[in-house]
Amino acid sequence: MHDIVKDYYGRQLASSEDLKTSACCDPTQLPAWLKPLLARIHPEVLSRYYGCGLVSPALLDGCRVLDLGCGSGRDVYALAQLVGERGEVVGVDMTEEQLEVATRHREHHREAFGYARDNVRFLHGYIERLNELGLEAGSFDVIVSNCVVNLSPDKEAVLDGVSRLLKPGGEFYFSDVYADRRVPAEVRNDPVLYGECLGGALYWNDFLRLAHRSGFADPRLVEDRPLEVTDPALAAKVGNVCFYSATYRLFKLDGLESACEDYGQAVIYRGTIPGHESRFVLDKHHGIEAGRVFPVCGNTWRMLGETRFAPHFDFVGNFERHYGLFEGCGATIPFGRTSADDDPDCGCC
Ligand SMILES: C[S@@+](CC[C@H](N)C(=O)[O-])C[C@H]1O[C@@H](n2cnc3c(N)ncnc32)[C@H](O)[C@@H]1O
Repeated sequence: MHDIVKDYYGRQLASSEDLKTSACCDPTQLPAWLKPLLARIHPEVLSRYYGCGLVSPALLDGCRVLDLGCGSGRDVYALAQLVGERGEVVGVDMTEEQLEVATRHREHHREAFGYARDNVRFLHGYIERLNELGLEAGSFDVIVSNCVVNLSPDKEAVLDGVSRLLKPGGEFYFSDVYADRRVPAEVRNDPVLYGECLGGALYWNDFLRLAHRSGFADPRLVEDRPLEVTDPALAAKVGNVCFYSATYRLFKLDGLESACEDYGQAVIYRGTIPGHESRFVLDKHHGIEAGRVFPVCGNTWRMLGETRFAPHFDFVGNFERHYGLFEGCGATIPFGRTSADDDPDCGCC
């Protein structure tokens, strides 16, 4: 599988235009804050972007970030501006042609960002074998990945490596492709469908099980959108399987429980996160308005209280008394429902 994927991204695709599905983000849908960041990125890097979501969580200034499967570096260079000169972004990819483009433009970006020192690094390697890259355990605040984990033949090894490299309270914030069912063998074994990020996509509930096994007890869905297979011959092969691009955040926190439990707690957002002054979106079900008392389960409390977000919240309550399962914790397919932006009062999980 590694060779098929290297060939696809190293030799067959020359630019995002060559993709045969709508997995890649539509540039017209980009948020306003991202546009000035992308405007400083070299056109050759932009033209070889194959991501399927936005991997820029809030509050990155000064953070150390790792990008798994960074390709030609679009997200690395966008994140390099968000972490600032005090931070660092490390990109890992196995395809030499992709890394060549990324590394060739390092100096261009240092100058474009006005930095005295280069704050990015690119490593050639496999995301299943992060332990071979000389990266220190527990040394990253945030790990991102954009449309890559589906391509890995050993997704559990990827999540285990992520867990090892994250600091306590750090998070894996990543976009990937998921299916509404287990992908049949004829789709999985088709080299083009695999290269297009569909063949290797996990059934969403298998992903949740895998995440739990790697110690990420409560994966949070941030956003999702259905994907279209635009090529008619490929669409016929895919049949009734529905694919989604989805962004999840997985916090490395020891105390998280496998369900959202109610301890009668609440948080109040101080409105102090730059760029998110009126509302902080933790995930698809938690759009937290500044100044408002917002009831939360124990897991959400920890995601806000034991991470880099803690100084931006006031916390009401504790873990002394348990009131049962937090209302609204669901177990059906999580994709395609309203977002936190459409439903401001929703505090469920
Ligand atoms: C769909 S592209 C996404 C690239 C980049 N994240 C972006 O948004 O443009 C997938 C990338 O992941 C890399 N990749 C796939 N599997 C990998 C693996 N097992 N280890 C390292 N890199 C991998 C490929 O070389 C390719 O550059």
